[in-house]
Formats: sequence, structure tokens, C-alpha cells
Amino acid sequence: MELLLVKNYEELSLKAAEKVADAVKSNPRIVLGLPTGSTPLGMYKELIAMNKEGKISFKHVVTFNLDEYEGLSKEDPNSYYRFMNDNFFRHIDIEKDNTNILDGMSEDIERECREYEEKIAKCGGIDFMILGIGNNGHIGFNEPAEFFPSFTHRVKLTDSTIEANSRFFDSIENVPKYALTMGIKSIMHCKKIMLLASGKAKAEAIKGTLQGPITPKLPASVLQLHRNLTVIVDEEAGALLKTV
Ligand code: GLP
Repeated sequence: MELLLVKNYEELSLKAAEKVADAVKSNPRIVLGLPTGSTPLGMYKELIAMNKEGKISFKHVVTFNLDEYEGLSKEDPNSYYRFMNDNFFRHIDIEKDNTNILDGMSEDIERECREYEEKIAKCGGIDFMILGIGNNGHIGFNEPAEFFPSFTHRVKLTDSTIEANSRFFDSIENVPKYALTMGIKSIMHCKKIMLLASGKAKAEAIKGTLQGPITPKLPASVLQLHRNLTVIVDEEAGALLKTV
């Protein structure tokens, strides 16, 4: 595992963007796995700037987003479809057809999840997955549980996630109770993973993820078993890590 401890959110965003840019430069047809949330916003801004300056191109890049809320339409300001378009895709030279996001409005959720996995496989798997982390250690929407969920599936969100994500909604009642997410197996199958965490709300989760036991009660802890993992944390998120 490569662990990068950086000073603050700005440095984290720049470092993360550089890693993605290097990967895109070395494989212009790379398949990326992408997260939503506040954490990757700075990275997306940096990548947009690099794209506008002509330093990298996303022309042949393929993307798969990690997760989507159930029941929100593509136009809904809180859907991850909208998030990705507003914060990344419409500012770069990516082909719309090369961007993939689970359809939270699908009438057949099981089929939607199965077809998503099939599409990932058809593209040769995900080369580089970028992850944020929930305060409770979730990745994607894989919530703390008694077992590690495998492939893309429907999930009931925990109260803690509903509360944490309610900051984006008018009221907590409007936060969807269910979501679709890549599973732990889908994530662990990615060839390379980069986990990003910023701020003190993430410090406990990061300590457990990197230095605690591997347990589905802290889903991100499974990443300790991945063979090509980079973790970038800022001072606040890394504050509880023991240094050897
Ligand atoms: C959501 C997403 C996760 C994300 C997490 C953390 O629940 N499903 O993929 O990592 O939030 O979000 P933030 O970066 O805003 O703290």
C-alpha cells in the first residue's frame, strides 16, 4: 500500500488529480471507477483545469460510477447522474456514451445491477477506481454489515449515512432510503484503487480502515487486502493513524 499524508484538502485534490492524469496519459483508453461526494470535488476541478489547458484528454476514457440513489431521476439535483455531469463530465472532452451510471429509476433493479456488472466485464474491468469513504467506513454505498456484499446490488442506507448525506437535501425526509451500489467484489476486482479522505469526521474510519481488523463492520477495511492500493489523507483525516 502507498500512503500519502498531505497537509490539507487542496494538496489532496492536486495529488489525486495528478495520479489520475498520469494514469490517463499512460493509457488514454483507461476504464475509471468514479465516486461522488464532497471529497472528490477538488480533484475533479483540477482535472477539468488540466483538460482545458490541453494537458490531458478524456476523449477515449470510459467511466463507471460507483453508486446511485434509488428513485431519483437523472434531472434531480441530488442524483449522482446530475452530480457527475454538473461537476465533471460536461466540463471535459469525454464522450457521453462512455460514461456509465446506474439507473436509480430502473423498474427492474436486479437486472440493472446485473447488466452493470456485465458492461464492466465487457469493457475489460475497471483499471483505476477512485474512492471516498463514509464517516462509518462505507465505500460506494456498501454499509457496515455482517458480511461483505459481493457485486452490484440494492442496499438500504443506514441512519448514519442518511443523516450525513442530508446536508445536500432540503430535509432529511427527502434523502432516499435505498441506493444501488457496486459491491465489495466489484471494487476489489478493480486493478488499482485510490482512496481519498479529508477532514476530522473521517479520522476514525481511516484509522480502522488502515490499522484495524478487516471486518464488514467497517467495509473499507477490506481494502487492506488489495494489491495495488494508494491512500491519500490530509492531516485531519490521518490524525489518529499510528506512525511506526
Ligand atoms: C456517499 C457516497 C460515497 C462517498 C461518501 C462520502 O455516501 N455514496 O461514495 O464516499 O458519501 O462522501 P463525502 O466525500 O461527501 O464525505
